[in-house]
Amino acid sequence: MNEQELMVTTNALVGGEKGLLAMDESNPTCDKRFAKLGIPQTEEARRAYRELIVATPGLGECVSGAILCDETIRQSKKDGTPFVKALTGVGIIPGIKVDGGAKDLAGHPGEKITEGLDGLRDRLAEYFQMGARFAKWRAVIAVGDGLPSRGCIESNAESLARYAALCQEAGLVPIVEPEVLMDGGHTLERCRQVTEEVLRTVFNKLYNQRVMFEGMILKPNMILPGLACPKQETVDEVADATVNSLLRVVPAAVPGIAFLSGGQSGELASARLNAMNVRFKQRLPWALTFSFARAIQQPALDIWHGEEAKVSAAQKALFHRGSCSRAARRGQYNAAMEGGSLK
Ligand code: G3H
Repeated sequence: MNEQELMVTTNALVGGEKGLLAMDESNPTCDKRFAKLGIPQTEEARRAYRELIVATPGLGECVSGAILCDETIRQSKKDGTPFVKALTGVGIIPGIKVDGGAKDLAGHPGEKITEGLDGLRDRLAEYFQMGARFAKWRAVIAVGDGLPSRGCIESNAESLARYAALCQEAGLVPIVEPEVLMDGGHTLERCRQVTEEVLRTVFNKLYNQRVMFEGMILKPNMILPGLACPKQETVDEVADATVNSLLRVVPAAVPGIAFLSGGQSGELASARLNAMNVRFKQRLPWALTFSFARAIQQPALDIWHGEEAKVSAAQKALFHRGSCSRAARRGQYNAAMEGGSLK
Protein backbone atom coordinates (compact mmCIF):
# COMPACT_ATOMS: atom_id res chain seq x y z
CA MET A 1 0.00 0.00 0.00
CA ASN A 2 1.36 3.43 -0.92
CA GLU A 3 -0.02 5.45 1.97
CA GLN A 4 1.23 8.75 0.63
CA GLU A 5 -0.49 8.32 -2.74
CA LEU A 6 -3.73 7.29 -1.08
CA MET A 7 -3.68 10.39 1.09
CA VAL A 8 -2.92 12.62 -1.90
CA THR A 9 -5.86 11.15 -3.85
CA THR A 10 -8.18 11.41 -0.85
CA ASN A 11 -7.22 15.01 -0.35
CA ALA A 12 -7.74 15.79 -4.04
CA LEU A 13 -11.23 14.28 -3.80
CA VAL A 14 -12.49 15.89 -0.60
CA GLY A 15 -9.92 18.47 0.44
CA GLY A 16 -10.97 21.28 -1.88
CA GLU A 17 -14.32 22.97 -2.24
CA LYS A 18 -16.02 20.49 -4.56
CA GLY A 19 -17.74 17.15 -4.17
CA LEU A 20 -18.32 13.89 -6.00
CA LEU A 21 -20.75 12.92 -8.71
CA ALA A 22 -22.14 9.40 -8.57
CA MET A 23 -22.96 8.30 -12.12
CA ASP A 24 -22.47 4.62 -11.41
CA GLU A 25 -26.03 3.30 -11.60
CA SER A 26 -25.94 -0.37 -12.51
CA ASN A 27 -27.48 -1.23 -15.89
CA PRO A 28 -30.73 -2.48 -14.31
CA THR A 29 -31.08 0.68 -12.19
CA CYS A 30 -30.26 2.96 -15.12
CA ASP A 31 -32.72 1.04 -17.32
CA LYS A 32 -35.43 1.36 -14.67
CA ARG A 33 -34.96 5.16 -14.64
CA PHE A 34 -34.95 5.25 -18.45
CA ALA A 35 -38.09 3.08 -18.64
CA LYS A 36 -40.02 5.53 -16.43
CA LEU A 37 -39.33 8.24 -19.03
CA GLY A 38 -39.80 6.07 -22.11
CA ILE A 39 -36.09 6.17 -23.00
CA PRO A 40 -34.83 3.02 -24.77
CA GLN A 41 -33.00 0.70 -22.38
CA THR A 42 -29.98 0.00 -24.56
CA GLU A 43 -26.23 0.14 -24.15
CA GLU A 44 -26.09 3.01 -26.66
CA ALA A 45 -28.71 5.04 -24.76
CA ARG A 46 -26.79 4.56 -21.52
CA ARG A 47 -23.57 5.60 -23.28
CA ALA A 48 -25.21 8.69 -24.79
CA TYR A 49 -26.57 9.71 -21.40
CA ARG A 50 -23.18 9.27 -19.74
CA GLU A 51 -21.57 11.29 -22.56
CA LEU A 52 -24.05 14.07 -21.83
CA ILE A 53 -22.87 14.04 -18.22
CA VAL A 54 -19.11 13.90 -18.73
CA ALA A 55 -19.26 16.55 -21.48
CA THR A 56 -21.27 19.02 -19.37
CA PRO A 57 -19.52 22.39 -19.62
CA GLY A 58 -18.14 23.46 -16.24
CA LEU A 59 -18.61 20.08 -14.54
CA GLY A 60 -14.99 20.14 -13.38
CA GLU A 61 -15.70 23.35 -11.45
CA CYS A 62 -18.22 21.49 -9.28
CA VAL A 63 -16.89 17.97 -8.86
CA SER A 64 -13.48 16.56 -8.06
CA GLY A 65 -14.39 12.94 -8.78
CA ALA A 66 -16.97 10.96 -10.73
CA ILE A 67 -17.97 7.39 -9.93
CA LEU A 68 -18.49 5.19 -12.98
CA CYS A 69 -19.77 1.64 -13.32
CA ASP A 70 -18.10 -1.23 -15.15
CA GLU A 71 -19.92 -0.57 -18.43
CA THR A 72 -19.26 3.18 -18.38
CA ILE A 73 -15.56 3.03 -17.54
CA ARG A 74 -15.08 1.05 -20.77
CA GLN A 75 -17.07 3.48 -22.92
CA SER A 76 -16.10 6.54 -24.97
CA LYS A 77 -17.61 9.69 -26.33
CA LYS A 78 -18.90 9.58 -29.88
CA ASP A 79 -15.66 11.17 -31.07
CA GLY A 80 -13.74 8.23 -29.63
CA THR A 81 -12.41 9.91 -26.47
CA PRO A 82 -12.63 7.43 -23.58
CA PHE A 83 -14.81 8.74 -20.74
CA VAL A 84 -11.87 8.31 -18.36
CA LYS A 85 -9.77 10.63 -20.53
CA ALA A 86 -12.60 13.12 -20.93
CA LEU A 87 -12.94 13.31 -17.13
CA THR A 88 -9.26 13.62 -16.30
CA GLY A 89 -8.99 16.24 -19.05
CA VAL A 90 -11.23 18.55 -17.03
CA GLY A 91 -9.62 17.73 -13.69
CA ILE A 92 -12.10 15.10 -12.53
CA ILE A 93 -10.69 11.93 -10.95
CA PRO A 94 -12.40 8.77 -12.25
CA GLY A 95 -13.75 6.32 -9.70
CA ILE A 96 -15.42 2.95 -10.05
CA LYS A 97 -18.27 1.15 -8.30
CA VAL A 98 -16.97 -2.33 -7.57
CA ASP A 99 -19.70 -4.00 -5.56
CA GLY A 100 -21.85 -6.65 -7.17
CA GLY A 101 -25.13 -5.30 -5.86
CA ALA A 102 -27.31 -5.97 -2.82
CA LYS A 103 -28.83 -9.48 -2.73
CA ASP A 104 -31.27 -11.11 -0.30
CA LEU A 105 -29.49 -12.05 2.93
CA ALA A 106 -30.23 -15.70 3.68
CA GLY A 107 -32.24 -16.21 6.85
CA HIS A 108 -33.03 -12.49 7.13
CA PRO A 109 -36.28 -11.64 5.36
CA GLY A 110 -36.34 -8.02 4.18
CA GLU A 111 -32.59 -7.57 4.50
CA LYS A 112 -29.76 -7.44 1.95
CA ILE A 113 -26.10 -8.32 1.74
CA THR A 114 -23.86 -6.67 -0.82
CA GLU A 115 -21.88 -9.19 -2.85
CA GLY A 116 -18.73 -8.85 -4.93
CA LEU A 117 -15.66 -9.81 -2.87
CA ASP A 118 -14.77 -12.87 -4.98
CA GLY A 119 -12.16 -11.89 -7.57
CA LEU A 120 -12.15 -8.30 -6.33
CA ARG A 121 -8.34 -8.07 -6.07
CA ASP A 122 -7.99 -8.78 -9.83
CA ARG A 123 -10.81 -6.41 -10.79
CA LEU A 124 -9.26 -3.60 -8.75
CA ALA A 125 -5.91 -4.10 -10.50
CA GLU A 126 -7.66 -3.84 -13.87
CA TYR A 127 -9.59 -0.69 -12.89
CA PHE A 128 -6.38 0.93 -11.63
CA GLN A 129 -4.78 0.20 -15.00
CA MET A 130 -7.79 1.79 -16.68
CA GLY A 131 -7.25 5.01 -14.72
CA ALA A 132 -9.58 4.69 -11.73
CA ARG A 133 -8.11 6.10 -8.53
CA PHE A 134 -10.96 5.52 -6.14
CA ALA A 135 -13.76 3.01 -5.69
CA LYS A 136 -17.18 2.63 -4.15
CA TRP A 137 -19.05 -0.18 -2.39
CA ARG A 138 -22.60 0.35 -1.16
CA ALA A 139 -24.30 -1.65 1.58
CA VAL A 140 -28.00 -1.10 2.24
CA ILE A 141 -29.61 -1.28 5.66
CA ALA A 142 -33.39 -1.31 5.87
CA VAL A 143 -35.22 0.09 8.91
CA GLY A 144 -38.46 -1.57 9.98
CA ASP A 145 -40.13 -3.77 12.57
CA GLY A 146 -37.20 -5.64 14.12
CA LEU A 147 -34.87 -4.35 11.39
CA PRO A 148 -32.01 -4.04 10.99
CA SER A 149 -30.78 -7.28 12.54
CA ARG A 150 -27.36 -7.54 14.07
CA GLY A 151 -26.54 -10.23 11.49
CA CYS A 152 -27.24 -7.86 8.62
CA ILE A 153 -25.20 -5.03 10.10
CA GLU A 154 -22.24 -7.28 10.96
CA SER A 155 -22.05 -9.03 7.61
CA ASN A 156 -22.34 -5.85 5.56
CA ALA A 157 -19.78 -4.06 7.73
CA GLU A 158 -17.38 -6.99 7.36
CA SER A 159 -17.69 -6.88 3.56
CA LEU A 160 -17.19 -3.11 3.49
CA ALA A 161 -14.02 -3.48 5.55
CA ARG A 162 -12.59 -6.28 3.41
CA TYR A 163 -13.39 -4.29 0.26
CA ALA A 164 -11.73 -1.17 1.69
CA ALA A 165 -8.55 -3.06 2.62
CA LEU A 166 -8.32 -4.55 -0.88
CA CYS A 167 -8.81 -1.10 -2.42
CA GLN A 168 -5.99 0.43 -0.43
CA GLU A 169 -3.71 -2.49 -1.30
CA ALA A 170 -4.46 -1.75 -4.99
CA GLY A 171 -3.85 2.01 -4.66
CA LEU A 172 -7.52 2.99 -4.86
CA VAL A 173 -9.17 5.19 -2.24
CA PRO A 174 -12.22 3.32 -0.91
CA ILE A 175 -15.52 5.10 -0.54
CA VAL A 176 -17.26 3.20 2.22
CA GLU A 177 -21.03 3.53 1.82
CA PRO A 178 -23.30 2.00 4.43
CA GLU A 179 -26.70 3.43 3.48
CA VAL A 180 -29.50 3.39 6.03
CA LEU A 181 -32.53 3.62 3.75
CA MET A 182 -35.15 6.37 3.93
CA ASP A 183 -38.01 3.98 3.06
CA GLY A 184 -40.61 3.57 5.79
CA GLY A 185 -42.37 5.48 8.51
CA HIS A 186 -39.55 5.48 11.10
CA THR A 187 -38.65 8.62 12.98
CA LEU A 188 -35.47 10.68 12.74
CA GLU A 189 -34.53 9.37 16.18
CA ARG A 190 -34.76 5.78 14.95
CA CYS A 191 -32.61 6.65 11.93
CA ARG A 192 -30.08 8.17 14.30
CA GLN A 193 -29.92 5.05 16.49
CA VAL A 194 -29.56 2.72 13.52
CA THR A 195 -27.00 4.90 11.71
CA GLU A 196 -24.84 5.22 14.80
CA GLU A 197 -24.92 1.47 15.42
CA VAL A 198 -24.07 0.78 11.78
CA LEU A 199 -21.21 3.29 11.66
CA ARG A 200 -19.75 2.07 14.97
CA THR A 201 -19.73 -1.47 13.60
CA VAL A 202 -18.29 -0.39 10.25
CA PHE A 203 -15.40 1.54 11.83
CA ASN A 204 -14.68 -1.32 14.19
CA LYS A 205 -14.41 -3.71 11.24
CA LEU A 206 -12.35 -1.21 9.22
CA TYR A 207 -9.95 -1.00 12.14
CA ASN A 208 -9.75 -4.81 12.40
CA GLN A 209 -8.94 -5.02 8.68
CA ARG A 210 -6.18 -2.40 9.11
CA VAL A 211 -7.77 0.12 6.80
CA MET A 212 -5.93 3.44 6.91
CA PHE A 213 -8.57 5.98 7.90
CA GLU A 214 -6.53 8.84 6.37
CA GLY A 215 -6.92 7.23 2.94
CA MET A 216 -10.66 6.57 2.83
CA ILE A 217 -13.93 8.47 2.44
CA LEU A 218 -17.16 7.72 4.29
CA LYS A 219 -20.37 8.00 2.27
CA PRO A 220 -23.26 7.88 4.73
CA ASN A 221 -26.92 8.83 4.70
CA MET A 222 -28.00 12.00 6.45
CA ILE A 223 -29.98 11.46 9.65
CA LEU A 224 -33.54 11.76 8.38
CA PRO A 225 -37.04 10.63 9.25
CA GLY A 226 -38.43 7.92 6.97
CA LEU A 227 -40.21 9.19 3.88
CA ALA A 228 -43.57 8.09 5.30
CA CYS A 229 -42.99 9.50 8.79
CA PRO A 230 -45.62 12.18 9.54
CA LYS A 231 -43.07 14.31 11.38
CA GLN A 232 -40.48 15.77 9.02
CA GLU A 233 -37.84 17.79 10.87
CA THR A 234 -36.59 21.15 9.64
CA VAL A 235 -33.40 21.58 7.62
CA ASP A 236 -31.53 22.82 10.71
CA GLU A 237 -32.78 19.96 12.87
CA VAL A 238 -31.60 17.44 10.28
CA ALA A 239 -28.24 19.20 10.05
CA ASP A 240 -27.79 19.17 13.84
CA ALA A 241 -28.83 15.53 14.23
CA THR A 242 -26.58 14.41 11.40
CA VAL A 243 -23.44 16.23 12.47
CA ASN A 244 -23.86 15.39 16.15
CA SER A 245 -24.20 11.69 15.30
CA LEU A 246 -21.18 11.72 13.00
CA LEU A 247 -19.11 13.47 15.66
CA ARG A 248 -19.88 10.55 17.98
CA VAL A 249 -18.86 7.78 15.64
CA VAL A 250 -16.55 8.88 12.81
CA PRO A 251 -12.84 9.01 13.70
CA ALA A 252 -11.19 12.40 13.23
CA ALA A 253 -8.52 10.81 11.01
CA VAL A 254 -11.07 10.31 8.21
CA PRO A 255 -10.49 13.24 5.82
CA GLY A 256 -13.95 13.50 4.35
CA ILE A 257 -17.59 12.55 4.60
CA ALA A 258 -19.48 12.68 1.29
CA PHE A 259 -23.23 12.23 1.67
CA LEU A 260 -25.45 10.22 -0.64
CA SER A 261 -28.76 11.87 -1.48
CA GLY A 262 -30.88 8.74 -1.05
CA GLY A 263 -34.01 10.00 -2.78
CA GLN A 264 -34.10 13.56 -1.37
CA SER A 265 -34.78 16.27 -3.92
CA GLY A 266 -31.75 18.19 -5.12
CA GLU A 267 -32.98 21.28 -3.30
CA LEU A 268 -33.41 19.55 0.05
CA ALA A 269 -30.13 17.68 -0.19
CA SER A 270 -28.34 20.98 -0.92
CA ALA A 271 -30.16 22.86 1.83
CA ARG A 272 -29.35 20.21 4.44
CA LEU A 273 -25.68 19.92 3.47
CA ASN A 274 -25.45 23.70 3.43
CA ALA A 275 -26.90 23.96 6.94
CA MET A 276 -24.34 21.47 8.23
CA ASN A 277 -21.49 23.51 6.79
CA VAL A 278 -22.89 26.84 7.92
CA ARG A 279 -23.53 25.65 11.48
CA PHE A 280 -20.52 23.39 12.07
CA LYS A 281 -17.76 23.83 9.49
CA GLN A 282 -15.35 25.66 11.80
CA ARG A 283 -15.30 22.88 14.37
CA LEU A 284 -15.31 19.69 12.32
CA PRO A 285 -12.34 17.32 11.99
CA TRP A 286 -13.45 16.16 8.51
CA ALA A 287 -14.78 17.84 5.37
CA LEU A 288 -18.52 17.53 4.75
CA THR A 289 -19.31 17.22 1.09
CA PHE A 290 -21.56 15.42 -1.39
CA SER A 291 -21.48 12.29 -3.50
CA PHE A 292 -24.95 12.66 -5.01
CA ALA A 293 -26.45 10.74 -7.90
CA ARG A 294 -30.16 11.56 -8.13
CA ALA A 295 -29.86 14.95 -6.41
CA ILE A 296 -27.56 16.08 -9.22
CA GLN A 297 -28.76 14.05 -12.18
CA GLN A 298 -32.54 13.79 -11.97
CA PRO A 299 -33.60 17.14 -13.50
CA ALA A 300 -31.12 16.63 -16.36
CA LEU A 301 -32.43 13.14 -17.05
CA ASP A 302 -36.02 14.42 -17.04
CA ILE A 303 -35.14 17.12 -19.56
CA TRP A 304 -32.98 14.93 -21.82
CA HIS A 305 -35.58 12.23 -22.30
CA GLY A 306 -33.30 10.46 -24.78
CA GLU A 307 -33.46 13.34 -27.29
CA GLU A 308 -30.33 14.73 -28.92
CA ALA A 309 -31.95 18.16 -29.24
CA LYS A 310 -32.30 18.39 -25.44
CA VAL A 311 -28.67 17.64 -24.56
CA SER A 312 -27.65 21.23 -24.04
CA ALA A 313 -30.65 22.08 -21.84
CA ALA A 314 -30.05 18.91 -19.82
CA GLN A 315 -26.40 19.82 -19.34
CA LYS A 316 -27.41 23.24 -18.05
CA ALA A 317 -29.69 21.58 -15.50
CA LEU A 318 -26.91 19.21 -14.46
CA PHE A 319 -24.45 22.07 -14.07
CA HIS A 320 -27.01 23.97 -12.02
CA ARG A 321 -27.44 21.11 -9.55
CA GLY A 322 -23.68 20.61 -9.46
CA SER A 323 -23.22 24.30 -8.68
CA CYS A 324 -25.86 24.21 -5.95
CA SER A 325 -24.20 21.16 -4.37
CA ARG A 326 -20.81 22.85 -4.49
CA ALA A 327 -22.30 25.98 -2.89
CA ALA A 328 -23.76 23.78 -0.13
CA ARG A 329 -20.39 22.20 0.44
CA ARG A 330 -19.02 25.73 0.96
CA GLY A 331 -21.96 26.84 3.11
CA GLN A 332 -22.97 29.38 0.45
CA TYR A 333 -26.19 27.86 -0.89
CA ASN A 334 -29.32 30.01 -0.78
CA ALA A 335 -32.82 30.34 -2.16
CA ALA A 336 -31.72 32.84 -4.79
CA MET A 337 -29.78 30.05 -6.50
CA GLU A 338 -33.09 28.26 -7.06
CA GLY A 339 -34.82 31.32 -8.46
CA GLY A 340 -35.91 32.60 -5.08
CA SER A 341 -37.64 29.66 -3.45
CA LEU A 342 -36.62 26.38 -1.91
CA LYS A 343 -39.00 23.49 -2.48
O1 G3H B 1 -24.95 4.38 -4.17
C1 G3H B 1 -25.68 5.33 -4.36
C2 G3H B 1 -25.19 6.49 -5.09
O2 G3H B 1 -23.81 6.50 -5.08
C3 G3H B 1 -25.78 7.75 -4.50
O3 G3H B 1 -27.04 7.86 -5.05
O4 G3H B 1 -27.44 10.17 -4.30
O5 G3H B 1 -29.14 8.89 -5.61
O6 G3H B 1 -28.62 8.26 -3.25
P1 G3H B 1 -28.12 8.87 -4.50
